[in-house]
Amino acid sequence: MLPIVKVAMPPKDLLMPALENVLYSGMLAEGETVYKFEEAFARHYGLQHVLAMSSGTAALHAALTLAGVGPGDEVISTPMTAEPTNTSVLYCGANVIWADVDPTSGNMDPDSVKSLVTPKTKAILCVHYAGYPARLSELRAIADQHGIALIEDCAHALAAEYKGQPIGSIGDFSIFSFQAIKHMTTVDGGVLVLKDPANITKAKKFRWFGMLKGVPRTEIDITSIGYKYNMSNVTAAIGLVQLDRIDEVVNRYIDNGRYYDVALSSVPGVDFARVENDVKSSYWLYTMLCDDSNAIEKALIANGVSASKLHRPNSYHSIFANSQRELPGLGDFYKKLLHIPCGWWVSDAERCHIVEIISKG
Ligand SMILES: Cc1ncc(COP(=O)(O)O)c(C=O)c1O
Repeated sequence: MLPIVKVAMPPKDLLMPALENVLYSGMLAEGETVYKFEEAFARHYGLQHVLAMSSGTAALHAALTLAGVGPGDEVISTPMTAEPTNTSVLYCGANVIWADVDPTSGNMDPDSVKSLVTPKTKAILCVHYAGYPARLSELRAIADQHGIALIEDCAHALAAEYKGQPIGSIGDFSIFSFQAIKHMTTVDGGVLVLKDPANITKAKKFRWFGMLKGVPRTEIDITSIGYKYNMSNVTAAIGLVQLDRIDEVVNRYIDNGRYYDVALSSVPGVDFARVENDVKSSYWLYTMLCDDSNAIEKALIANGVSASKLHRPNSYHSIFANSQRELPGLGDFYKKLLHIPCGWWVSDAERCHIVEIISKG
């Protein structure tokens, strides 16, 4: 079965020497390799103030906390995402307020966001679902108008761009995930991106027990809660090798995604996710919108090709029962949604075969 997601590991002869080096260096915890990875990631993606974390979820928890989100506050978020986007809001004791999604993209609808801002709103948490950038200019304007934080969850959108700017550079805080099946993996890991350098020290303390590395342990006074959220040198070593080849990996997702956009445009009953002009998606999951998504899913699976909705709208979970509201855009999007294989492992022949099956289906 051709999978929808697949782990991308660098070849052994590149990865193993780098891993061995760090594993036997006597320096496994957060140290120079982590700081090198932070710099390399920031340089590669044109971002500033990048802090490596143990996971994307840890980075989300940090972003929300640094944005001042606490018990009883409201965070306007999207239900169309993986669960950690929204369970991290609960870590802070805050309430998730569901914005409806734009049925043409699956991303947060800025008009819905606008209608939901209250004096309790502390942040807008947007996701570039499946690698398709959300409508960031409008979300940024709403956040600025109300003096609240914009947080970008870029877990699906490594290498995407928004009107000439790198994804992750528009929010006050942004996060990326390097969990196993993302564009790039460090086995587990993530980064937090800060717009304001004044948050760097706070974020470093948050990721390591409330303490700063480099200060003698016997002299530290912990004044705020911190967690064990740091990245290790071992993980960072994998990240550094991954970065050397990431463009080749991501470019194949993008090439396949653009191929489908063209090839599917003439197939009746089938559409695909749309983004604004001058926006570059990184197609972590190719998003089809089908009049009959079940029939096409069955036809693809019968022909050895995985196809699925892959995520459950977070608003369907009992843990978010208090956030229930009508979300017609979400209902429309989710009914039509179908993800198909699009990554580096999908060959020219396979993508052509997939379009043929869909055209017949
Ligand atoms: C949209 C989204 N946000 C956040 C996360 C959390 O990332 P991690 O698994 O690295 O904690 C994930 C993935 O798992 C995700 O898909």
